[in-house]
Amino acid sequence: MKKFIIGTIVTVFVLIVAISVQQGLLFAKPLPYDDEQKGLDSQITIHLSHVVAENTPKGQAANKFAELVEEKTNGKVKVHVYSNSSLFNDENEFQALQKGDVEMIIPTFSKMTAYVPNWQVLDLPYLFNTDEEVQEVLTGSIGEQLVKELEPFHIKGLGFWYNGFKHLTSVDQPIHTFEDLQGLRIRTMPSKILEKQFEAMKATPIPLSFSEVFTDLEKNAIDAQENTASNIYSKGFYKVQKHMTITQHGILGYAVLMNETFWNSLPVKIQHQLISAMKETTEWQFEQAILMNEKDMEKLKQQADFTVYTMSPSERQRFKEQLAPVYDFYKTHIQNDHVLSKIEKIVTP
Ligand code: LMR
Repeated sequence: MKKFIIGTIVTVFVLIVAISVQQGLLFAKPLPYDDEQKGLDSQITIHLSHVVAENTPKGQAANKFAELVEEKTNGKVKVHVYSNSSLFNDENEFQALQKGDVEMIIPTFSKMTAYVPNWQVLDLPYLFNTDEEVQEVLTGSIGEQLVKELEPFHIKGLGFWYNGFKHLTSVDQPIHTFEDLQGLRIRTMPSKILEKQFEAMKATPIPLSFSEVFTDLEKNAIDAQENTASNIYSKGFYKVQKHMTITQHGILGYAVLMNETFWNSLPVKIQHQLISAMKETTEWQFEQAILMNEKDMEKLKQQADFTVYTMSPSERQRFKEQLAPVYDFYKTHIQNDHVLSKIEKIVTP
């Protein structure tokens, strides 16, 4: 009996040792060290969420920023970019940023106007005439002043990026005159000024998430929308609409935002490297955005069953005059505004 017990103990012991050696639990060698593991224990990850396609001014800028951050920090900071609303969409990305569920988002400034009413100035119709005017405003002292408005929300604003001028697209009827807009249901980004703009055109504004625009156009839940050539092309809106009118009536741009607690947790050296990557990306992206919109506009003009009409200068002037109430609305709601008069000094009337 005694022999049997000792035999069993020895067998079990031998079995345990054999299995442990096979599984690498005993005498395990350390894993070979390679580049992938370099600095893994001190790696910093930034999840960056946005709502557009990758081949757009914002999508490309996000990727460029990721590339520059990796380069400038020697791989210590990795930016993971999530495009096409694959992580968060228009409706939940700002809350996600505030809660720290994501470190970075890049919403249009229009979508931020519910929080930062003074940013409504950027949505005023026919305020800007050229891309250069927009760049001067968004990257100069006015842009800096606007970014400071984020402070009460404990959000770190890194600056503004640009997409381009917005135009109108419509499903059934072309828009040549002011009157053509009457009664149309037009998708808009959530912004009081944009809603007022379409109300002044006697149309019905329908605020909607970007991710829903294609399907709502397809099922005729909306008749028209405003956007840049790059967004219209990359999201295939031309497949579910027949007409585009080059109006250049407003601009589309972005606020690059980071969770403040996360920002404050970063070593100062890393903060400087991120600011430097942001500065370089911003300069690069203004140029790219203009080129990309030009290219995508050409592609739109080549689409079968899709007409691209340029609004006449006289009709453009009529639009401007008819939209004066939007400026009145802005001035009565934003009473302490000094930004509009500063912008008006930069743009040619
Ligand atoms: C839109 O909602 O139309 C655009 O803001 C999408 C974007 O982020 O460019």
